Amino acid sequence: MESCSEHHIATARFTWLRRAVLLMFVAAMWVCLARPITASDEEKQAAQIRLGARLFKEDRFASRKGDLITSCAHCHQSNEDPEKPHAFTDNFTRSWVPWRAGDPRRDGARNAPTLLDVTALPRLHFDGQFTSLEELVEGTLAGRNYGWLPGEEDEARRLVYQVILEDTSEVTYARQFKEAFGVALNTLSPEQVMNLVSKAVTAYVRTLRSAQDSPYDRFLQANRLDARPARDESAAAYGRRMLARLAELESRAALKLSPDFTAEALDGMKLFLRSEGARRGNCVTCHAPPLFTDASFHNLGVSESEYDQVHGEGRFAALRIPDSADAIRPSRNTCETPVESKPERVDLGYWNYVKLDDATLRRAGESDDRFLQRMIATFKTPTLRNLNYSRPYMHNGAYPSLESALGELIRLSHRARAGRVRAADDELAKIELSESDIRPLITFLNTLNEDLKARLATTSR
Ligand code: HEC
Ligand code: HEC
Repeated sequence: MESCSEHHIATARFTWLRRAVLLMFVAAMWVCLARPITASDEEKQAAQIRLGARLFKEDRFASRKGDLITSCAHCHQSNEDPEKPHAFTDNFTRSWVPWRAGDPRRDGARNAPTLLDVTALPRLHFDGQFTSLEELVEGTLAGRNYGWLPGEEDEARRLVYQVILEDTSEVTYARQFKEAFGVALNTLSPEQVMNLVSKAVTAYVRTLRSAQDSPYDRFLQANRLDARPARDESAAAYGRRMLARLAELESRAALKLSPDFTAEALDGMKLFLRSEGARRGNCVTCHAPPLFTDASFHNLGVSESEYDQVHGEGRFAALRIPDSADAIRPSRNTCETPVESKPERVDLGYWNYVKLDDATLRRAGESDDRFLQRMIATFKTPTLRNLNYSRPYMHNGAYPSLESALGELIRLSHRARAGRVRAADDELAKIELSESDIRPLITFLNTLNEDLKARLATTSR
């Protein structure tokens, strides 16, 4: 026994020594090798972002068959006008697209949303068409925004390839691709080039984030208030907890306001957070902090409102929308702006793309048909940060100001309570506000604006 344990100790000591030596060796290797590797990875990452920023502004990718030059930056503007910065959006109701005889239109399907914080969203576009930024960039460069029609994807890829390979700018794309990806451009196929283009643009778009240093963020910090729901806490429950905390601080006269977060902003914040009782905005339920979106899809009746303005009151409610067995999704007519001459054109939003087995949205025991009906005219909840720089509002850009957007929201909540919004989200009818609540709500929403002018001025070259 004894020798056995002695032997054991000796072996253990030997193993320990071997391990120590091995460990020192690994550590030495790490110091020698790993540091330069991470540094060059960082350099590559920085080079990808630089390349992505350049590709974002590249205006030679639009189809020559269209009549407009365009780039991501044409529709997602930032500091082109230093006096009036944009949160990576344009001013248009619906963005302009190149005109094509095969699809004669000037307006695209929707309003361009901000790109700030999109990196946090699992689905992109108001209708959730894309599930990753990479997919979105490839789809966009070969799609209608760049003047391409369905079936012309190969042509689009070849143009991107040609522009990049033949580039003779002072710093060539060939050099930038080498720095960013360590590849020789002339060994790649058009598909591979497109793939790297989408990687680089994605790397750049991921850097576009709100700074979260708005008056609202500073108000939270000054009062030590939680910026986000706790794990497993619903946004509505977070709202209730915040209201209780605010009431408690106020009762001790300990709540700190400031010139840019006033008593009126506080009143608006309470309306925003309240989902029970009188004067409730119920906003927090969908516009969950800190990004003010639940990244989910809801029908507020905005699409119905636009459709009925074109075709007459009650026409959207009477529109025949195929059930799950007959529906062709997505379909051209159901991602469209309503026009008088074509009543079959309507925008049904996420109805076009939702998967019937969607685990997050489908309720237990719900039939395919019932679920799909509930998805009619649902759109992705937009962030409410930096609204000052992203007007006009809603997926159709039909609301030029916050007054008009909130006025419409209140009108639609009344209609939903009366059962007059087709497939309305259950949370819409829970909004109970009057016209006089609009002002404090806007004052609150304005505290979510950052100083984008200063920020874009320092980041632009
Ligand atoms: C012709 C104008 C136009 C061009 C060019 C354009 N976009 Fe967009 N972008 C839009 C519009 C409009 C939407 C909203 C589409 C929708 O929801 O159906 C959008 C949506 C997006 C979104 C989704 C945002 C969200 O919240 O879901 C991202 C990301 C985006 N664009 C990035 C880009 C990038 C990157 C490029 C360049 C490769 C680009 N866009 C080119 C107009 C444009
Ligand atoms: C049921 C979920 C839900 C509730 C509740 C809700 N919203 Fe929204 N909000 C959305 C969705 C979804 C959109 C986009 C709708 C569309 O474009 O068709 C939106 C759009 C907006 C917009 C336009 C933003 C932009 O960039 O275009 C504003 C402003 C807004 N909501 C503010 C509020 C306020 C304030 C409240 C509370 C009074 C509120 N919302 C309640 C889901 C909700």
